[in-house]
Amino acid sequence: MNYSAHLNHPLFKTIGKIADQEEKSAFAIGGFVRDLLLQRRCKDIDIVVEGSGIELAQKASDELKAGRVTVFKNFGTAMFRYRDWEVEFVGARKESYERGSRNPIVEDGTIEDDQNRRDFTINALAISLNTESFGELIDPFNGIRDLENECIRTPLDPDITFSDDPLRMLRAIRFATQLNFRIEDSNIESIRKNASRIDIISQERIHAELHKIIMSHKPSIGFKLLEKCDLLERIFPELSNLKGVEWKDGIGHKDNFYHTLEVLDNVAKVSDNLWLRWSAILHDIAKPATKRFQKNHGWTFHGHEDRGARMVPKIFKRFKLPLDNKMKFVQKMVLLHLRPIALTKNQITDSAVRRLLFDAGDDIDDLMILCRADITSKNEARVKRYLANYDVVLRKLHEVEEKDHLRNFQPPISGEEIMETFGIPPSKPIGDLKNAIKEAILDGKIPNETIAAKAYMMELAEAMGLKPIQS
Ligand code: CTP
Repeated sequence: MNYSAHLNHPLFKTIGKIADQEEKSAFAIGGFVRDLLLQRRCKDIDIVVEGSGIELAQKASDELKAGRVTVFKNFGTAMFRYRDWEVEFVGARKESYERGSRNPIVEDGTIEDDQNRRDFTINALAISLNTESFGELIDPFNGIRDLENECIRTPLDPDITFSDDPLRMLRAIRFATQLNFRIEDSNIESIRKNASRIDIISQERIHAELHKIIMSHKPSIGFKLLEKCDLLERIFPELSNLKGVEWKDGIGHKDNFYHTLEVLDNVAKVSDNLWLRWSAILHDIAKPATKRFQKNHGWTFHGHEDRGARMVPKIFKRFKLPLDNKMKFVQKMVLLHLRPIALTKNQITDSAVRRLLFDAGDDIDDLMILCRADITSKNEARVKRYLANYDVVLRKLHEVEEKDHLRNFQPPISGEEIMETFGIPPSKPIGDLKNAIKEAILDGKIPNETIAAKAYMMELAEAMGLKPIQS
């Protein structure tokens, strides 16, 4: 079959024409061809050239009046931007690996050599760009069949492909998740066998693949595969520890691994926020550490939200994830995830709602998404009750926020103002006054306004024996 219709942009014909002039063979290859045939958007075009890719890139860029060519001499690659594409040229390579290293020994090779070194059959497809053979598919491993059968499979013996570059074990699972493909049984077996090889991969690369899984349409597919292939316990033991159900006196608790994945899928349906998705992954992470069986209560996980929030930095540090406000956001979500529903256990008071708004601040909407996603019970009556409670909280949040504007609470009187009013330096009474004003607002004793707050401050100060200085 000829795929020239897929390459209808003049860019490809131009590259082919220049390759003809240079007497070289040039091919579009890899993820670009895969995505082209699957009709997925792909903005990176990879071109393999038998011979030097650098010269061809220079000439093609001149002809197309494209951007400046960036050359990476060490890798023998050259790249330019054209419209919103990134076009990368590389000479065909033959690679062999040494155990214990991800750095292959590289030599010049043919297109077949280049295809042999690739990770999956669906990533090893090449389409010729030279004029005479324009659009011809070179598919030595039947990648087309695997695309049709929705199957991830290595071109060579999987033990070689995965052991050469163990990151590919994660890539297999990532592609299976993104494309909703299955992984061929022999490949699953091989990943299991080679799972320990993942230890030589850097945390940056691991978390980059994990993020692609997490940002997929249905991330649970990937985490279930990681678990099935024995990779989860190696790269994310805390998550793996959530698995399993314990029984005592005929009472079991839910399997928190599968529950967590359901919550993650639920969040993924409504939010593309990577860090909210991380919050879903970590919301119950301290359940194993806090699990108790109490005679009259059954299984409890008291304090798992607090303990979980304290586990977040360690997990982020290990994955080499950012430790800035993104991590703090995740910590906050984990810490507060029970609060909205807990509100409904008692009469929902305005003051409890104000405290929740104060603690969540601008992240209240995300917290409510997580909270809604956390309702996964199979018991219909329970789900109905929780959802009704959730709606009550949501309504109450809107009412109180409209009235009191606490979402981004700024104290109506600053510490400086208090110091100026009483002519005293920074000291404990200043902090006490500030805190008492905040508490009075949250309790609803006074409105969130400057005049009321000042009057209240004067009252308190008098009782503390503080006198305002005359202005
Ligand atoms: N590749 C490989 N082994 C790897 C990484 C990449 O064989 N560990 C090959 C595959 O042929 C892949 C191509 O290099 O298709 C380009 O790699 P990359 O850009 O990382 O992945 P894509 O397949 O393009 O997918 P995505 O852009 O979604 O990451």
